Amino acid sequence: MIPEKIENLLKKYGQEHLLRYFGEIDEEGRAGLLSQIAGIDFERVSGLFLTASGAVQQESKEHKYEPVPFTDKKNLSKEAIEAYEKTGGEIISRGGFAALTMAGGQGTRLGHNGPKGTYDIGLPGHPSLFEIQCGRLLEASKKYGKTIPWYIMTSRENDADTKAFFKAHGFFGYPEEDIKFFVQNMLPMVAFDGKIVLDRKDHIKEGADGHGGVFAALKSSGCYDDMLKRGVKWVFIGGIDNVLLKLCDPLLIGFAEKSGAKIAAKSLVKRDAHEGVGVFCKRDGKPYVIEYTEISDEMADARRGDGSFLYGDAHVLCNLFSIESIGGVVESGGGLPYHVARKKTQYIDANGNIATPEKPNAYKFEAFIFDAFEYFSDIAILRVDRESEFAPVKNKEGEDSPESARRMYEENLRRENEQR
Ligand code: UD1
Repeated sequence: MIPEKIENLLKKYGQEHLLRYFGEIDEEGRAGLLSQIAGIDFERVSGLFLTASGAVQQESKEHKYEPVPFTDKKNLSKEAIEAYEKTGGEIISRGGFAALTMAGGQGTRLGHNGPKGTYDIGLPGHPSLFEIQCGRLLEASKKYGKTIPWYIMTSRENDADTKAFFKAHGFFGYPEEDIKFFVQNMLPMVAFDGKIVLDRKDHIKEGADGHGGVFAALKSSGCYDDMLKRGVKWVFIGGIDNVLLKLCDPLLIGFAEKSGAKIAAKSLVKRDAHEGVGVFCKRDGKPYVIEYTEISDEMADARRGDGSFLYGDAHVLCNLFSIESIGGVVESGGGLPYHVARKKTQYIDANGNIATPEKPNAYKFEAFIFDAFEYFSDIAILRVDRESEFAPVKNKEGEDSPESARRMYEENLRRENEQR
């Protein structure tokens, strides 16, 4: 039996095809499909499609872009660094700091079948990306005499596998009660004709709603309340794929605290005009990151008199949010604008068979965490060295690959040991 409410809903939004094969699928498939349908906000999806397809014109506004001020770590005196680190260290010791890892992604680009955090780049001892991050937090927790709460955002696609992985590895020695997993939301993919994609007769193709979904998910999961209860003041939010990520850097925390800004970030100089990284700027006077897929060639290559890039500070998912700033975004509904990607996705064709397209056939909608920066008047940016802070694992080979990340990780370790 198809509930009348669902039938009416699908009719209203022209999505009746979702139940075309209802008579052919088993009980379990029916229950799953109905529950997927019940979880979809059709009004929102329909609005997203109309904008993506150009049927509804978005108000086109001329924006004013400007470079954003930053502090280069290289220009800080030893005394200044020590003072920031002291302030940051005190916050950590008091329990005022938490780390959050956005790990909703899969390792698809690397040919890895599983959560990206479970990927092994081939270091001695074969730690996974999760274990590398955990090691950093364990070390910091020991140094500051306080276990750092660690929030891990998963997606519906990888939540069970991620939790099972942590369990199988004894949580890498981290106190289990201080690790909180929470799941980000999904959005259905929509074919270019406006129909939500069925990738099986009993299944709607959904994708994670982008790391900008972190705010809504923090609220709905209760993790935001948990942070408040624990007295957290600053939350570091980073990605999973940078093996040099310093999740708990007292320098950044102290720098943010002293800056008076509600949000802070580390940046590093982009490698070349078209490196696949977003860059910091100010848009209409507010902090903003313009993504590599959206920047104009002219802006990407704009230079200062000394030849340096005008918009050269790369955003590397190394951001620090005050708890008030998270609260502000969360209380305003946590809703950030969606960016549209045109993707190739498997679908059920007119004959009821599974088909794989050769060209993109559907829209995927994703929110980006850095769009939250526009909520604030200011951001404290600390420019750091690429060599010691950024070795991402994105591609199978070449730049930003497991091989380059491994090399940078080992060189960094060598440098650190020499300095000890
Ligand atoms: C990203 C940034 C880019 C930055 C670059 C640096 C975006 C859109 N762009 O690009 O500005 O310069 O990294 O490395 O992020 N994730 C989720 N849920 C999602 C999507 C992503 O948790 O729905 C997580 C991934 O697990 C990963 C991180 O976010 O940890 C980055 O996502 P990815 O898709 O790899 O971004 P990039 O295109 O590499």
